[in-house]
Amino acid sequence: MISRRKFAATLAAAPFLLRGQTRDLKARIRIDAERVIGTIDPKIYGNFTEHLGRCIQGGIFEEGSPLADASGYRRDVIEAVRNLHVGLLRWPGGNFSSNYHWLDGIGPRDQRPKRLDMAWQSIEDNRFGTHEFLNYVEMLGIEPYVCANFGTGAWTEAQQWVEYCNLAEGTAMTDLRRKNGREKPWKVTYWGLGNEMDGPWQMGHRSAEDYGKFALEGAKLMKWTDPNVKLIAAGSSDFATRERWTEWNRTVLTHLNGHADFLSLHTYVGDSDNDYLSFIANSIDLTDRIRTTEGIIRSVVEPQSRRPIYIAFDEWNVWYRERGAGKEEGRRILEEIYDLQDALVVATMLNTFVNNAHIVKIANMAQLVNVIAPIFTNEKGLFLQTIYYPLQLFAANVKGTALEVFVDSPSYATKRFDKVPYLDVSAALDQGKVVVNVVNRHPEQEIEAEIEPQDGRFAGQIEVAVVNGSGLKVHNGFDSQNVKTANSVETVSGSKVVHRFAPHSFTQIRATLG
Ligand code: AHR
Repeated sequence: MISRRKFAATLAAAPFLLRGQTRDLKARIRIDAERVIGTIDPKIYGNFTEHLGRCIQGGIFEEGSPLADASGYRRDVIEAVRNLHVGLLRWPGGNFSSNYHWLDGIGPRDQRPKRLDMAWQSIEDNRFGTHEFLNYVEMLGIEPYVCANFGTGAWTEAQQWVEYCNLAEGTAMTDLRRKNGREKPWKVTYWGLGNEMDGPWQMGHRSAEDYGKFALEGAKLMKWTDPNVKLIAAGSSDFATRERWTEWNRTVLTHLNGHADFLSLHTYVGDSDNDYLSFIANSIDLTDRIRTTEGIIRSVVEPQSRRPIYIAFDEWNVWYRERGAGKEEGRRILEEIYDLQDALVVATMLNTFVNNAHIVKIANMAQLVNVIAPIFTNEKGLFLQTIYYPLQLFAANVKGTALEVFVDSPSYATKRFDKVPYLDVSAALDQGKVVVNVVNRHPEQEIEAEIEPQDGRFAGQIEVAVVNGSGLKVHNGFDSQNVKTANSVETVSGSKVVHRFAPHSFTQIRATLG
């Protein structure tokens, strides 16, 4: 934290930090191909589909729509999802999962029961269930992640869900799956041991101690059913105080060490104060949470353990405008329309996951369609929100190993942070190709940066992709694509590249190291 006096002093000592000034801003970015942070797991480019508003119904699934295929999947959404390169898809919630009884969602669609969904105060018709979800991800080649009901659900229910999805034959559950039209198991690897169980808003909320004990017994049954499953324990949600958050995570890990493979964390950020420079600095807080959680994991899990525990940021995004609403307000809830500054924040969050690739192995942008999502539909078509573009660029190109980068950038101070560099950077190396991701946080000024590989030279052409728009608050719509990716190619050779990063932009530079 920075005091008021220190804040004023920082501004006085560094006049180039003030808005409206036009002194040239310069930076240096150094990349060392041997300084590896870790392997980038493609599952950090995941998304999330919850039975919530129009995410599934009216989003990925719309029976009877001229835009849907014979199974009810929206064809236009399929194409947008394919182009997003989704690495992992979480389902069925979220808060919804804490009272979801999966047996309601199998068998002939017309015979499935309608249930009250108390999480989002609506009626769940169960026409989209296990088969519809798993067939969808199979068709798209996406890894599924199923979050089991550890709220009102029983251990057996979670265990039998694994059995239904993953075992080949020979039990009542596998017979039932076959009777419902699916011969082969889907083999779902990633299973959640509940969602945000620390929150009083959660159906079946428990104390950390009670949840830890309960989840352990469920975890044992699930692994004894299929030893290949990977389990994600419910860590603390974003809403707890720092103290409660660390305490919850430590207690839960103590119970689940040796059984859970991931600890789930959630984070939603927003600009309710209309203070862009603070909003765009949020990734500093995200980095701090990751490091703190890593420390907690290290304090519980033996070094060199054969059963490491990684972080799963299985819900993250910008979300502050649209909240849940009552039944009477219809199904259009949490339909956030994103602007350019949200897209830049998303890019800084992705930079943070890459910069912590050794410990963050799963991340799911919440969600996929309509509900706080990169894809937005109506009954006639869809448009791509601003946040679609940075996620797409990362998922398509930022692979291989994450590299440590040295960044010497002008910076500014906020009420919360002493020093926020204007340039936020990550880098990756994959088969001789280096990708550098740069957000210029400055709202008004471009920054000229030298990008220099520590050893080696840039050779041939570099590809430059830029996400930007005419102002921080511009957004996209059905008739306007104000923010999107602009691609160009430049020829370079030599030991460094000089690039001028436009104000309020995200730039991805892809180059070959000679
Ligand atoms: O993504 C929307 C909601 O946010 C999820 O259901 C819940 O887990 C979180 O609080």
